[in-house]
Amino acid sequence: MPQTLFENIDWVGFVDWNVRDFHGYMTKRGSSYNSYLIRDEKTVLVDSVKAPYADKLVKNIESLTSLDKIDYIICNHAEPDHSGSIPHMVKLCPQAKVITNAKCQSFLSMHYDTEGWNWHIVDEGDEISFGKYTATFINTPMAHWPESMMTYIKEPKLLFSMDAFGQHFASSGRFDDEVPAGHLYAEAKTYYANIITPYGKQVLKALEKASKLDIEMVAPSHGVIWRKGIADVIKWYTDWASYKPFKKVVIFYDSMWQSTDRMAHAVTEGALEVPGVEVRLFDVKSSDITQLATEVMDASAVACGSPTLNMTLMPLMAQALTYIKGLAPKNKLSFAFGSYGWAKKSGPHDVLDYLQQCKWDLLEEEPIQCQFKPTEEVFERLREAGKKLAEHAAQFDPVLDV
Ligand code: FEO
Repeated sequence: MPQTLFENIDWVGFVDWNVRDFHGYMTKRGSSYNSYLIRDEKTVLVDSVKAPYADKLVKNIESLTSLDKIDYIICNHAEPDHSGSIPHMVKLCPQAKVITNAKCQSFLSMHYDTEGWNWHIVDEGDEISFGKYTATFINTPMAHWPESMMTYIKEPKLLFSMDAFGQHFASSGRFDDEVPAGHLYAEAKTYYANIITPYGKQVLKALEKASKLDIEMVAPSHGVIWRKGIADVIKWYTDWASYKPFKKVVIFYDSMWQSTDRMAHAVTEGALEVPGVEVRLFDVKSSDITQLATEVMDASAVACGSPTLNMTLMPLMAQALTYIKGLAPKNKLSFAFGSYGWAKKSGPHDVLDYLQQCKWDLLEEEPIQCQFKPTEEVFERLREAGKKLAEHAAQFDPVLDV
């Protein structure tokens, strides 16, 4: 059902309550694909929904106007969760011009058969008047893809921010003041950690552009629309995009016969000796990469453990570390640990390779490891290393608790 943002500007998207996998991201609270309709002298559709839900989009639009009234379809981002229904909409609305930038046009043409589409190509700062409302287009490359842009409607001070400020969060409330605040922070953070983390530099540029706009509402392409907590989410984004470390130590590991498990607990015991530092321990068998990436993002210190399995590390640790390496969170002090049987240079050493590839600082140049079973001496080294991670973390601000 459509929901009104401002007079004649409505949400017409689709809430995807049941999606649980978004290219590897576990969306435990679902998601939404936000599409918006502006009914002015010109009628404008802003972004679309995933292709399978095109009929839901059409139904929402038709509850407000007829399809032959649509003059423009704005595409802020070519990724198929937002552009997937545009080919269907162009077929149903052949009179409509697709407004986008040149790079997005080329991306759309690689995804879809765009022959015969009417285009209106815009660039940074271009304006189009729809009547009462005027759109300005802002290029925000790599937030999330190279072609990404935002659309600002100056009269109601409304920013269509595309993926930025989004959350994979299906909810009955459409606005940030209509959902539990705790969910909101958790989902905005999980989304940032798993989607946006690699692009901190570009996000800071986008934030700088946004700071020059007078904004009363931010309408992203996923999750709730911000009208109450705009300053909060901008502050969170500024911290995350700056890779700000917090007073937090994360330990994650896998284990085969409990040696590495006992080692991880020794690291944790050492870290817990430093008061006031948030310490979190994860066995990768009972957590998931979405959660791990989120926890690691704002930690200032990380310890990772794996025993040796078949001359390498455990597969779930390889999965977690590969995923986190791709997201490239920065500003961590780290070390590797684990047990081995007879292959002294694998397992924990493979973990160390990942930490180096992540470009994290190393507390120990070599992994803290043991053959088969940790001795009391090894436990003592691990407790000491855990304590040093926590002492390092103690210099930073406490983890945000919103
Ligand atoms: Fe929600 Fe980059 O797409």
